[in-house]
Amino acid sequence: MTHGSPPGGGWRAEIDAATALLASAGVASPGADALALAQAVAGIPLGRFRAALITGSLAPAPGELDRLRELAERRARREPLQHILGVAHFRALTLAVGPGVFVPRPETEIVVAAALEAIAPLTDGAVVADLCAGSGAIGFAIADEFPAARVWSVELDRRAFEWTTRNHAALDEGTMRRVTIQRGDARTALAPLNGTVDLVVSNPPYVPPGAIPRDEEVAKHDPAVALYGLGPDGLAVPAGIVAAAERLLKPGGTLVMEHAEVQAEAARGLLDPARWTAVRTRPDLTGRSRMVIGRRTANLSPGASPDETIEESEK
Ligand SMILES: C[S@@+](CC[C@H](N)C(=O)[O-])C[C@H]1O[C@@H](n2cnc3c(N)ncnc32)[C@H](O)[C@@H]1O
Repeated sequence: MTHGSPPGGGWRAEIDAATALLASAGVASPGADALALAQAVAGIPLGRFRAALITGSLAPAPGELDRLRELAERRARREPLQHILGVAHFRALTLAVGPGVFVPRPETEIVVAAALEAIAPLTDGAVVADLCAGSGAIGFAIADEFPAARVWSVELDRRAFEWTTRNHAALDEGTMRRVTIQRGDARTALAPLNGTVDLVVSNPPYVPPGAIPRDEEVAKHDPAVALYGLGPDGLAVPAGIVAAAERLLKPGGTLVMEHAEVQAEAARGLLDPARWTAVRTRPDLTGRSRMVIGRRTANLSPGASPDETIEESEK
């Protein structure tokens, strides 16, 4: 980059052209994406880049506008923005992402918030299992934000686990030491921890078989193993996660599991009242029912009455 171009030229014109290209390709947020691509090419912090655009005080270095055009063309072919940039921002973390791994979503940040609430009193130590870890987003964010957490993150898929491993290695040393990553099937993993875990948190695959995601970014770039939850309703893997949580959690431990908006009732139904109490659905920031939460009981005797099952939004 160089300094001193006239306002309106250079970057601004190319960002406007990229915005128009992305809009015509059906990208949902063309202006924001064009700006993010330009900022990545310029290689300076977003605030400074925006200010420089307003004042016209930043002239592109040779090749930078060509590079922006190339990236915009990739985005117009509906390659996810995060794959092009190579990173996804999740809570306070910047995670490496690309082909083979699910791009973490903003709604899952609320799953982390619910998980952190559940372990907040456990300041002397909380044992956490993140089942279906992908990039590592959930478990690594919990370890990053809750210093008393000891986290186990489990991922099945070989390619996804390469990203789990890479993001684990990039954590700061103190956080990394509190996180163990493991490749395996979450439904059977971590047997040595049976009955000792305070929190099981999971964003499992849960899309039903026929529900092909509408956005090309998702349908073509998120791995099928990350999307489809198997079984007629997409809840076969989530049911396996619930069973794993029953095995792993200590009495009083909490399960927080993400699901699709239409699966709220079915997801609550996965938690058998004989083994779970305080089962509830929690909305995301836009009010959509997106996660089920339950507390593991000591096994109740037959006929004992569990707490009511509720929609938190209805309280
Ligand atoms: C929806 S993605 C979630 C990734 C990450 N937790 C997040 O929230 O961004 C689901 C992940 O579960 C993995 N997965 C699917 N079945 C699994 C299983 N049986 N055991 C462990 N991981 C599994 C997929 O490979 C994928 O990485």
